[in-house]
Amino acid sequence: MSERVAEKRDGLAGVVAGKTAISTVGKEGVGLTYRGYAIEDLAEKACFEEVAFLLIYGHLPGHNELRDFRRRLIELRRLPEPLKEMLERLPPQSIPMDVLRTGCSALGCLEPERRFNDEQKVAERLLAAFPGILLYWYHFAHHHRRIEVQSDQISLAGHFLELLHGKPPGPLHQQALDVSLILYAEHEFNASTFATRVAASTLSDFYSAIGAGIGTLRGWLHGGANEAALALLQCFTDPNEAEAGVMEALAWRQRIMGFGHRVYKISDPRCDILRPWVRRLTEAVGQQNLFAICERIEQVMWREKKLFPNVDFYSAPAYYSMGIPKSMFTPVFVLARTAGWSAHIIEQRADNKLIRPSAFYVGPGPQPFLPADARDVDVDRGVIAGHEVDFR
Ligand code: ACO
Repeated sequence: MSERVAEKRDGLAGVVAGKTAISTVGKEGVGLTYRGYAIEDLAEKACFEEVAFLLIYGHLPGHNELRDFRRRLIELRRLPEPLKEMLERLPPQSIPMDVLRTGCSALGCLEPERRFNDEQKVAERLLAAFPGILLYWYHFAHHHRRIEVQSDQISLAGHFLELLHGKPPGPLHQQALDVSLILYAEHEFNASTFATRVAASTLSDFYSAIGAGIGTLRGWLHGGANEAALALLQCFTDPNEAEAGVMEALAWRQRIMGFGHRVYKISDPRCDILRPWVRRLTEAVGQQNLFAICERIEQVMWREKKLFPNVDFYSAPAYYSMGIPKSMFTPVFVLARTAGWSAHIIEQRADNKLIRPSAFYVGPGPQPFLPADARDVDVDRGVIAGHEVDFR
């Protein structure tokens, strides 16, 4: 392979790494479809449970299928006692993404996938159990309370908000969260989904593949960007200050979290759907200033860099105005993306081939082997590609 080709494929950009019938992302630079349905239609007319069913089972559910699916998801919310005991032992300062990843692993030990044809059952179990895993730990760790992980809410959005706040959510919050879950549910061969497919391609179990997805989503360049975006927004008290702050950050060649995308070249369609919801949500809690700051940053980034916001930029103020703690923004993404990851694991298994690409070697030539006391070791920790990395 020539050096030129290797350079062109940095980060696998533009590489077609497999086929899928689940979604299309950014055809002609825009657009998102799940199994042929436009994201605009799904966000307006469907609920998250219909979309999760569509992704996992391949078709939109009929009335009875949806009723039965919802019923199963409600029954599957219960958590086994050993899992609760394990969650109680995790420290309050744990990162909620780590709690979800650990909870996923623990459930895999307690209820292992015995046969590959149980995979849709495991997908439903994880979709149903994740809100309880996250919020059981959260309330125990932070408020010393053992919460009931069942609620009267039919939807995952309502259930999550009720477990978080301890009371049924209002319709605006429930509906807005539901829409955001639809937008987050699936996105073709993004980094975390690709990680789940790589794990699945080794014939590993479902829980391990989902765990790989959670670990990959956690990073700031992927799902973690919604938490980083709020941290940025909270630096500013008004749009002028935001403009000055972003200009300064750009002058220092810093990345503005929640902007840019590997595939979309014109805009992120999810963002266009979410923006009006953020306007309504911030107005409802008297935080119009937050929305004005978002809009100004969006204008500045387009003017200066021709960069548009991605879904993470607007999910941050949306979740903030619903009272969701910042550290749970990326976990909420997990609740939704579990549907897409599951669909990809099932698809990968149905026509499996081990995913194992090749690398362009750029290391040293043949070296003489020296004894340990004759080696000069230079360790440079905590720096990745020139960026200081804080793993918190
Ligand atoms: N802020 C400032 N500059 C940016 C940004 C940004 N958010 N994104 C890209 N750029 C610039 C880069 O500095 C680079 O400029 P240069 O050529 O002058 O060095 C150029 O645009 C290309 O950037 P790449 O990193 O090569 O583009 P890539 O396609 O690899 O990156 C990514 C995509 C990782 C999403 C990037 O845009 C980014 O880091 N964004 C911020 C993190 C973020 O929002 N992630 C969420 C993605 S969506 C999701 O996961 C749901």
